[in-house]
Amino acid sequence: MAPYTVKWGILATGGIAQYFSKDLLADPSARGTSDVLHEVVAAASSTSKERAAEFLKDVGAGADAKAYGSYAELVADPNVDIIYVATPHSHHFQNVMLALEVGNKHVLCEKAFTVTAAQARKLVETARARNLFLMEAVWTRYFPLSVQVRSLVQSGAIGTVYRVVADNSLNCNKDHSPTSAVTFSDDSRMVNMDLAGGALLDLGIYSLTWLFQILYHLQPEAEGEKEAPQVVAVMDKYDRTGADESSTLVLHFPGHRSQGIGMTSMRVGTGVGSVQKSAPAILIQGSDGEIQVMGPAYKPLAYRVIKKSDNKSESEVPWVDMPIPIDKREGATWEGHGMFWEADEAARCLRDGKKESATLPLSESIVIMETMDKALQQGGIVYPELITTDVFDENSPLNTGRA
Ligand SMILES: NC(=O)c1ccc[n+]([C@@H]2O[C@H](COP(=O)([O-])OP(=O)(O)OC[C@H]3O[C@@H](n4cnc5c(N)ncnc54)[C@H](OP(=O)(O)O)[C@@H]3O)[C@@H](O)[C@H]2O)c1
Repeated sequence: MAPYTVKWGILATGGIAQYFSKDLLADPSARGTSDVLHEVVAAASSTSKERAAEFLKDVGAGADAKAYGSYAELVADPNVDIIYVATPHSHHFQNVMLALEVGNKHVLCEKAFTVTAAQARKLVETARARNLFLMEAVWTRYFPLSVQVRSLVQSGAIGTVYRVVADNSLNCNKDHSPTSAVTFSDDSRMVNMDLAGGALLDLGIYSLTWLFQILYHLQPEAEGEKEAPQVVAVMDKYDRTGADESSTLVLHFPGHRSQGIGMTSMRVGTGVGSVQKSAPAILIQGSDGEIQVMGPAYKPLAYRVIKKSDNKSESEVPWVDMPIPIDKREGATWEGHGMFWEADEAARCLRDGKKESATLPLSESIVIMETMDKALQQGGIVYPELITTDVFDENSPLNTGRA
């Protein structure tokens, strides 16, 4: 049977749009996929039509792919099935609303889903009212390793899970002074408050991904009846812009007697120096043992299960490696990043008429945003009105490229 083919429109042409689009066009057979196929049929840049054309060429889209110099033109293209939103998080709410409301298009939106939980609720409400597919692009959830670890936990491999500790941090110091600038310039989306900068929304979301996919997603209750966490958070601010630079969240699910600690920082790294693999980034701790996952938390490729009953020392337990498949076609230049698994999920949902992904339901994306809302509030982080409003404005500068 011919694969179900999805035609993607790429909204924005930055770093992750490049990675994602190249993954879309990678040979699906390298990862064992034969039921769905992806095409990049259009891209839009708020900078210029030329920039979009250059992007399409760079990622290897077909010669007939359309280049647009505005997001509005892209969402209006009748040849596009689904829009991938790859702007900074500050722009997600307005850009996704543009695609849903004005373009009547399905959407896959990069993490963090929005800047506030109210915005996330509005997006979900709008997609449901218009019967459109919507998904937060947390690629980590669709990694074979994540699927395997969730299944191990569910099968009771480490007994009852009581605690998860997860860290996604990058040492971005320029020098040894604790108040010095980090390697990002002040206008970088990593630290610029106008672009919803800060460690939590950009990096901490992956620590929360691990806490949520184990401690929330796997709760036995049906979706909609799961227990949301109580949240206690501490944050240190980056002197130069006021964004959070180091944040630690404690999540408590008292009804399930479980706790999570999620850490993120731009001052210290998960690994020592540039060695990501110096220690596990994630510990999933149960009554009968522990699952350790090697970082980075967003791109997990090795794990091991240490059972209490094995009576082995930690060093005797081997790591299970789950590498990303390499496209070995002659002339292929792209080795794959691991974003194709989430794209395959979106394609299968469209094929099957599903309006959301069961692996990351929209109700869960909302609870995650509510958790981040609480943490940001406790940390005293206040983003500007332009990027926190939940009122859609087709002509917002966030849609027209004037912000
Ligand atoms: N899944 C992952 O692993 C992953 C990794 C990195 C980033 N992300 C997420 O993807 C999103 C984009 O991140 P990125 O690293 O691709 O960012 P980036 O390289 O800075 O690209 C963002 C793009 O958004 C558009 N844009 C529109 N208005 C803008 C403005 N005022 N300032 C900056 N850019 C603006 C620009 O494209 P045009 O000029 O073409 O409109 C720009 O190239 C973020 O939400 C981030 O959290 C995800």
